[in-house]
Amino acid sequence: MSDTLKKAIPDTVSLDLENAALVIIDQTLLPNETVMLSLKSQNEIWEAIKSLRVRGAPAIGVAAAIGYYLAARELSYGVENDILTDGSNYLIKLTEAKEYLASSRPTAVNLFWALDRMNSVTLDHIGSKISDVVDALCREAIKIRDEDISSCRAMGEYALSLIKDGDTILTHCNAGQLATVRYGTALSPIHIGREKGMNFKVFCDETRPLLQGARLSAYELVCDGVDTTVICDNMASQVMRNGWIDAIFVGADRIAANGDACNKIGTSGLAVLAAHYGVPFYVIAPLSTIDFNCESGKDVPIEQRNSNEITEMWYEKPMAPKGAKAYNPAFDYAENELITAIIPDYGIARAPYTESLAALRENAKNKKD
Ligand code: MRU
Repeated sequence: MSDTLKKAIPDTVSLDLENAALVIIDQTLLPNETVMLSLKSQNEIWEAIKSLRVRGAPAIGVAAAIGYYLAARELSYGVENDILTDGSNYLIKLTEAKEYLASSRPTAVNLFWALDRMNSVTLDHIGSKISDVVDALCREAIKIRDEDISSCRAMGEYALSLIKDGDTILTHCNAGQLATVRYGTALSPIHIGREKGMNFKVFCDETRPLLQGARLSAYELVCDGVDTTVICDNMASQVMRNGWIDAIFVGADRIAANGDACNKIGTSGLAVLAAHYGVPFYVIAPLSTIDFNCESGKDVPIEQRNSNEITEMWYEKPMAPKGAKAYNPAFDYAENELITAIIPDYGIARAPYTESLAALRENAKNKKD
């Protein structure tokens, strides 16, 4: 449990070692019900990611790492004492499990980053006893989860240095505690500021169509005693024009090497408005969200979701006539030139991002070595 929130919210993602399960809060039921799910099978974990029971790039990564470990553990029954070899049935099945988890959602790079990290632990153990491989994977999954907490804390401290007590922040979607293990990315400075006795006002875009802003960001901010106002997405221009917003904080699902930041649909429009009204636009996301293999935002695969999320979900009756199509991209990207700064877990990067992000990656590598 986090000890930082006024009304404590359980950790978003954890590993129940005793019962060999991934434990998550079912975010589709928030804010009205807090239901914990204990997921054991690969199908359950895949479905939980696909249907956003667990969501937000870092939380998806941690869930996938735990899912990979659980697959490795289950597949090891009966072959614990065998040696892991290239081309072995065990390795083939584990690779299939990895591919299956990777197929749950396409945009958040943390999913692939975490699975690749788990997979490289497996490959490093070719020639080891399978039970030792499973133990190493368990340690790695826990490490990925623990690192998420410390990296969110670091981002929060950096981002907090960009605002002052009493400021009003606008945020989009949920890049808070519920999108990570603890603290969040974009909302981490708010939670950390609260720990230090600071007060902020936060406007949450409701974030159509799945309402992560209204349901999740507003919920976790209210739990932390933050002065929280929910607005419809199309009201963002009005609150900026009123001069009410000191800064915009958003997270990211994948940041390209040039700094284009792909995040929940609506982020692009918000960045354009921020430039128009002269409001600083900050993207807060860990280095694991930066995909140096993507040259620009154009290279990021954008998830298309079911049109009923727009036309039917949340409503008693369909809110579009039969025959009307609905276009439902889940993400878009803010062009790097609209971003005031990108704040990963190793410092504050400013334009030109191709250089500053690469320098932060190098800095992180040196610190780890
Ligand atoms: O579709 P979702 O709810 O998974 O989208 C989440 C976002 O867009 C978040 O802003 C992003 O993953 C950053 S989370 C720290």
